[in-house]
Amino acid sequence: MFPVIRLRRIRQNEKLRKIVRESSLQINNLVYPLFVAEGKNIKNPVISMPGIYQLSCDNLLKEVEGAIKVGIPAVLLFGIPGQKDESGTQAYSDQGVVQNAVRAIKKNFPDIAVITDVCLCEFTIHGHCGVINSDGEVLNDPTLELLAKIAVSHAYAGADMVAPSAMMDGMVGSIRKALDANSFINIPIMAYSAKYASAFYGPFREAAGSAPRFGNRLGYQMDIANSDEAVRETRLDIEEGADIVMVKPALAYLDIIRRIKELGYPVAAYNVSGEYSMVKAAAMRGWIDERKVIEEILLSIKRAGANIIITYFAKEVAGWIKKDVENVAEGGL
Ligand code: PBG
Repeated sequence: MFPVIRLRRIRQNEKLRKIVRESSLQINNLVYPLFVAEGKNIKNPVISMPGIYQLSCDNLLKEVEGAIKVGIPAVLLFGIPGQKDESGTQAYSDQGVVQNAVRAIKKNFPDIAVITDVCLCEFTIHGHCGVINSDGEVLNDPTLELLAKIAVSHAYAGADMVAPSAMMDGMVGSIRKALDANSFINIPIMAYSAKYASAFYGPFREAAGSAPRFGNRLGYQMDIANSDEAVRETRLDIEEGADIVMVKPALAYLDIIRRIKELGYPVAAYNVSGEYSMVKAAAMRGWIDERKVIEEILLSIKRAGANIIITYFAKEVAGWIKKDVENVAEGGL
C-alpha cells in the first residue's frame, strides 16, 4: 500500500498556501494605457469602457499623477488628434497631441516611463494603420517610412520607449534604423509582434476613434486561428531589433504567450479593450465579482508567461495591491 498523496495538506493551510504560490501580480509589471485628446479640459467618457476617458493634456497629467500615487511604473499613450488627413501627418508632427503630452508628462513627472503607440490609424481619415492606394489597399513599404518618422518624433519629445502596432512587415527594422540614425540608440522598441485581427479591439476603436472606414485589418493583422505564425512574426521582430515582444489580445491567446515566452525575450501581453469591457459589463450587473475576476484574468496572463501586462485595469489593480501590502505592514491580512 502506498500512502495517499495528499496535495491538500498544504492547500488547506492558509499560511503554507502562500509559500508555494507560483505567481503573483506585481504593480511593477503593469502598464496603464491612456488616451490623450487635443484641447483643454476634456474628459470624454468612453461609453463602452466604463472608467476610461479621452483626456486632454491637463486632465491627462492628473490621471498620470493618480497612477504614480499607486505605484504604476509606465503609461502607454494613444493620441486622438484634432485633425485627421489621408497620410496621418499629425502622427509625426512635432506639435502633435502625443508629442506634446510626452513632453508635459516628462516635465511634470520625470520618473514615470512613457511608452508611445506608433501607428497611423488614429491619425488617418480612412482609419487604416498605413497609407492606402486608390483601391483602398494598405501599402506596406511607404508606410514604413511614416512609422519611422512617428517613432523618431516621439523619441525627440522624450518617450522612454516606442511601441509600433501597425503590423507592417519590416516595421521594427526601419524604426530601429531611424532611431539609431537620430542618435536614439538607447530608446528600446516594444513590438506588437503577435497582433491578431481580433474583435476584442471593438471598444478601443470607439475610444481612439480609429475604426477603419472601409474594409478590415485582416490584410495585416494575424489570423486568429494561427499559432506557428505568431512565432515566425515574433522571431522576425527580434531579428530586426525588438527589445520587448508583445502578444495581443491576451486572454484568448494565453497559449501564444506561453510559446512566445520560450523565445527568451521579455513578453508583454495586452489585456485589450474588449477584455476590459466584458468584465465591466458583467460586474455592473452584479453577475460576477469584479475584483476576483480581474485578479484571476491577470494572474492567468502572468502564469502563461507574460512579464509585462498592459491593462486598463492597471490603476485599480495597483490600488488593491498597494492596500494589501500596507495592511500586511500593519499586521493585518
Ligand atoms: C492601433 C491599435 C489598436 C489597439 C492598440 N493599438 C486597435 C486596432 O488594431 O484596431 C487595440 C487596443 C485595445 O483594444 O485595447 N493599431
